[in-house]
Amino acid sequence: MRLDILTLFPNMMAMFFDESIAKRAQVKGLVEVHLHDLHDYSLTRYGSVDDYPYGGAAGMVMAVEPLANCIEELQSQRRYDEVIYTAPDGRQFNQPMANELSLKQNLIILCGHYKGVDERLREHFITREISIGDYVLSGGELAAAVMADAIIRLVPGVLGDEQSALADSFQDGLVAPPEYTRPPEFRGWRVPDVLLSGNHAKIDEWRHAQAVERTRQRRPDLLA
Ligand code: ADE
Repeated sequence: MRLDILTLFPNMMAMFFDESIAKRAQVKGLVEVHLHDLHDYSLTRYGSVDDYPYGGAAGMVMAVEPLANCIEELQSQRRYDEVIYTAPDGRQFNQPMANELSLKQNLIILCGHYKGVDERLREHFITREISIGDYVLSGGELAAAVMADAIIRLVPGVLGDEQSALADSFQDGLVAPPEYTRPPEFRGWRVPDVLLSGNHAKIDEWRHAQAVERTRQRRPDLLA
């Protein structure tokens, strides 16, 4: 998979992709992440890519032309499956969306800023608008990082079998069951006996029952 992220803050994003699973995915050659500084597409002497909104209002709007130039330059080099725009009024990101996007070859993610982007960009270039939740961030960078993280770890081969992403919370519509590690007893608090029993059928049954019960308590909306 190739991810092209269009941002005003490439340095902020670079740190994130240089650690942990995102880094490992790149080292393994399973994922390529390319960060593009939108200032490089500025049409002004000052390197700006925003302008005052028509009609007058507070805040600035990202201009259509520099962003269109950046997207078209990339599209002239390869076919993109989606051009994603991070926006608080987009469809809310979730696990099925991460699953679907993890199977794509080439994705562009445009990190929104200021009051937003010129609507013509949304109409003519963006194929998906995604929000990570009902709150307003100061920029789309963190939203892009959240999405990229959820997507990259699902790319086939990124996680080893032993930490299969299929067992994650939400994959089966349930939150994950509780986990324990050594020691078997700490301050009198014992690990449930079933987990020490070695009986895998019983353990699977217990985990499923725990997942159902936790979902009922914490996220009843998932069961509805
Ligand atoms: N940009 C600002 N707020 C956002 C949000 N909640 N999700 C995605 N992009 C955003």
